Amino acid sequence: MTVRVGVIGVGMIGQDHIRRLTTVLSGAAVVGVSDIDRARAEATANCIEARVYATAQDVIEDSNVDAILIASWGATHEQHLLPCIAAGKPVFCEKPLSDTQDSCLRILDAELAFGRRLIQLGFMRRYDPAYRALKDAIRSGAIGAPIFVHCAHRNATAPAHFTNDMVITDSAVHEIDIVRWLLDDEIAAVSVLAPARKTSATVNPLFVILEMASGALVDVELSINGVYGYDIRGEVVGEIGTAALAESNPIVVKQTGAFSGRISADWRERFLRAYDIELQEWLDSVANGTTTGPSTWDGYAATATAEAALQSLHTGTRAAIPLRNRPALYQSQKADPSARILQEKPR
Ligand SMILES: NC(=O)c1ccc[n+]([C@@H]2O[C@H](COP(=O)([O-])OP(=O)(O)OC[C@H]3O[C@@H](n4cnc5c(N)ncnc54)[C@H](O)[C@@H]3O)[C@@H](O)[C@H]2O)c1
Repeated sequence: MTVRVGVIGVGMIGQDHIRRLTTVLSGAAVVGVSDIDRARAEATANCIEARVYATAQDVIEDSNVDAILIASWGATHEQHLLPCIAAGKPVFCEKPLSDTQDSCLRILDAELAFGRRLIQLGFMRRYDPAYRALKDAIRSGAIGAPIFVHCAHRNATAPAHFTNDMVITDSAVHEIDIVRWLLDDEIAAVSVLAPARKTSATVNPLFVILEMASGALVDVELSINGVYGYDIRGEVVGEIGTAALAESNPIVVKQTGAFSGRISADWRERFLRAYDIELQEWLDSVANGTTTGPSTWDGYAATATAEAALQSLHTGTRAAIPLRNRPALYQSQKADPSARILQEKPR
């Protein structure tokens, strides 16, 4: 089956996903696009012989469109997701689910009322082969119950429009999602610290501490002006061992008494394969009439945590994250053996 996809928002990542759908993956045809920047929509559509729709609503309502890909700004996601749910159309929505917790809950309630999942959210790290191997190592029980997770998120340079709040909402949100997924656990509280020592960075480095519901602790260093490249690090410390992401370069060059390897320039290079797998799995699930991957619940939990982290950043205090009870529609599909070990062991 060829899934006929309509794309809403054809900026940076929208165009990258269109390239992926049309030249890398199998089983998709991008049949139409819409963007509030009409000229951009037309230029994009011309390259792939797709139709330009006047509004996002027109894309969603067209019976010749099987599934929707949303890559517009986060604050617009709700206005597109609610009509998609009303029309019963499967959606791939770039992160965030929405920019506020209240908005996320309206989307969650609409999907719950519809009665089955339609939304796959764009947290692509869950499809990265290295992160998947890390999760397998935890699930195998080889390192025992997770106690700590150490993460680092370093970019070479921050884009000109980047703000200190975006370090939380656009950067840390990836770690927020990935540790929930790795540990199959919710985040109970967050504290954000800024180093007292001033740096020349245009965007402050930050240190985020996440307290998981199971009791595990997570630290995330965010250095968005890290200068030397894009470097994503993650190490899980368990009761009897550790598992960590390896260096991401595929080869090591040894020469004249030193060894070296490439550091990714940015997130597009580091997670290239993850984005491909993410969208291929979306296409496959749409063709099968199912929805998998990061859910509306995951999007709500991530935005709720980001909101609490912003509160902590601005007040200097620890912020609790009171989530709603998790509905059955979003219960995790697989039991996590490492979580069981933590509960069963005397502490
Ligand atoms: N998963 C990731 O790693 C990742 C990476 C980058 C961006 N993103 C997310 O993707 C989304 C887009 O980011 P971007 O960097 O491509 O932004 P962008 O500004 O480059 O592109 C967004 C596009 O959406 C269009 N748009 C805005 N409102 C619209 C509306 N109501 N209807 C139709 N089109 C509309 C804009 O005109 C623009 O062309 C954001 O939610 C962002 O957080 C995710």
